Amino acid sequence: MTRTDATRPHPAAPQPGASSLPAASAVPFRRLRTALSVSGLGLWLAVPALSAMAVLPADGTGARLRAAGGALALLVLPAVLLAPLAGALADRIDRRLALLIADALRFVVVLTVPLVDALPWTLAAAFLVGCLSVLWAPAAAASLPALAAGESADMAGGGVLVARATAEADPRAGARRTAVRAVYGPAPVAALVFALLAVIANAALGASHRADLPLYATAVAFVVAAALTALVKEVPATEPISVPAPLKLLFQGSGLDRAGRGLGLAVGGAALAAGAAVAVARVHTGELGGGDAGYGAVLTGLAAGLAFGLFLGPRVLGPFSRRRLLGLAVIAAALLLIVDALVRNLVVVAFVTAFLGVAAGAAWSCGAAVVRDPDAEDDDRPRAFLRSVTLVVALVAFAAVPAVAGALGSHRIDAGDGYDLDGSMAAQLIAAVLALAAGAVAYRRLDDRPGIPLVPDLRAALRGEVYVPPSQAVEPEPVRREHGVFIAFEGGEGAGKTTQARLAAIWLRDHGYDVITTHEPGATKIGMRLRAMLLDRDTTGLSDRAESLLYAADRADHVANVIRPALERGAIVVSDRYLDSSLAYQGYGRRQPVEDIARVNAWATGGLMPDLTVLLEVPPADGLRRLSAPADRIESEPQEFHERVRAGFRALAEADPDRYLVLDASRPQAELSREIQYRIREILPDPIPAGTEDATSTFPAITDV
Ligand code: TYD
Repeated sequence: MTRTDATRPHPAAPQPGASSLPAASAVPFRRLRTALSVSGLGLWLAVPALSAMAVLPADGTGARLRAAGGALALLVLPAVLLAPLAGALADRIDRRLALLIADALRFVVVLTVPLVDALPWTLAAAFLVGCLSVLWAPAAAASLPALAAGESADMAGGGVLVARATAEADPRAGARRTAVRAVYGPAPVAALVFALLAVIANAALGASHRADLPLYATAVAFVVAAALTALVKEVPATEPISVPAPLKLLFQGSGLDRAGRGLGLAVGGAALAAGAAVAVARVHTGELGGGDAGYGAVLTGLAAGLAFGLFLGPRVLGPFSRRRLLGLAVIAAALLLIVDALVRNLVVVAFVTAFLGVAAGAAWSCGAAVVRDPDAEDDDRPRAFLRSVTLVVALVAFAAVPAVAGALGSHRIDAGDGYDLDGSMAAQLIAAVLALAAGAVAYRRLDDRPGIPLVPDLRAALRGEVYVPPSQAVEPEPVRREHGVFIAFEGGEGAGKTTQARLAAIWLRDHGYDVITTHEPGATKIGMRLRAMLLDRDTTGLSDRAESLLYAADRADHVANVIRPALERGAIVVSDRYLDSSLAYQGYGRRQPVEDIARVNAWATGGLMPDLTVLLEVPPADGLRRLSAPADRIESEPQEFHERVRAGFRALAEADPDRYLVLDASRPQAELSREIQYRIREILPDPIPAGTEDATSTFPAITDV
């Protein structure tokens, strides 16, 4: 059953009527979004195009490595050093003008590179493109939300477009994400385009012009983006721009606690692994006979892998700790870099780099998930810290890995038929060892499940469950009570607990027991008020800890005023939900440490635990479908949340099988009732003899709350 008195539809939810607005008003938003994507394509195309161009005139492996690494480092350098300055500039001038200037100048700069055809200018161009990009990026990030917000005053245009697409009350939040996707999304496409252009150039233009075509394509992307931006009449300056200084943030990061530093270390390790792979990629693929096309293929793998990893990070292995996953992802990225360094086959290198990308992307998104403080309104700063770590480490990797590789030179290892350990391989191995160490230290620092062995934890997560070692199962404190029996019914949404609890109570009353049926939350007067707060969808921004404490407060009142008095007079208490709901929902569902929730609740209840907990198991999708009334605040959580709750309940049941009766809720009701009755019989103080179901001589004492 779902009690709906405390629920009502979300007032801020987009209303159906909003979609009937004139389509033309969304045009500026769409046009700008396209302009940003095309410009993003240009930016991501410039990375391989300029680094490949830099390699061409260089002589010898060392010089080629330094030229490619130098171009990459110079592209990133402005983001590390000049980003706040460029941000301040972008904030002063018109957003649209900033975008136009950046695109137009990048067009000119890139176009001149093949015409001048000299390494110093190629490197200078990389630096200039980097500078213009740090002017462009914050203006791009601020423009879409400004357009969305500007037009959402009357719920028109971009506002509706975004609100409809994201079902979000504030169209700016959706527009911000759209902007991020427009800027970063084209990266894998750009790498693929680069690879294809390299193939075409090889076939059509011959060796002397190989690097020209991708550069011209980059220039075209910038000029098209500029033209599209010019068509957008006006971008309001409603979104302020402020870009934090990466080095400053990094410095402040040293004042973080142990876990914060662990996080920086982990994300730095992932960035080092990915950065090292990119730094030597052009020369490495050249040696394997792949040339620019191979370079493009490896970068496509990496970029697609990164995108996939970013998507996967928060989703994969639901019940597994994100902190542990973060450490493991960094270690995986480092190990893949080792394979990358040692393998001499281009196809394998491309695949391994793609997996490295997945690991690095997953590490980043896990880091971002860990850093997101559920109690903080604005979670931009911790993310900015992670971004700074990534940028600075990538810069160091681009500059240092090729330099170290060049300095080490090539060595022949004579083991059997001889193995050439070249400089880039050795430099990659050094980077991999550093990343591995960072991952291992970060894993230990961040571990939020200390003492819980990794392998069973992972194995349980693969089965969709949370591993609870027997030693950590919640130990009920012994409670003195005379004759009473306490039975709780637990399960996810729509499992049919309420019905089964009621049937069990009727059966017990039929056999003459004094039975109290009750429920959580909201069985007492105070509890009803807490319930309204907890389940009303109007309750927004309730922090996870406050939610846990409110449920615990409701439970404390429930135990003190209803359950304990009943047990003390010898009654049987049948409760629809009890403490395990908090462990499953607030612990596993909200990803709060289960031990903490257990401790708070042990205090709230004085250690009172049920004699029997009946867990009705149902897949969340089926359970949620069974609900007829509008979803309350908890029911409206996404399906992953409910999957974690289910896994949590199962883990609790596994950890304490004597207290639990786990039943598949999809079975027929009568069968379930019978099984429940058999089990209840075992714990009754004065057992009901089997076969007495039809006895009519009993006189039930009915006491309901
Ligand atoms: P309710 O309407 O009683 O639903 P159900 O029929 O599913 O029991 O709502 C109770 C909701 O509160 C339910 O979604 C589970 C949630 N809940 C917690 O998150 N923690 C808790 O400790 C308890 C008791 C309930």
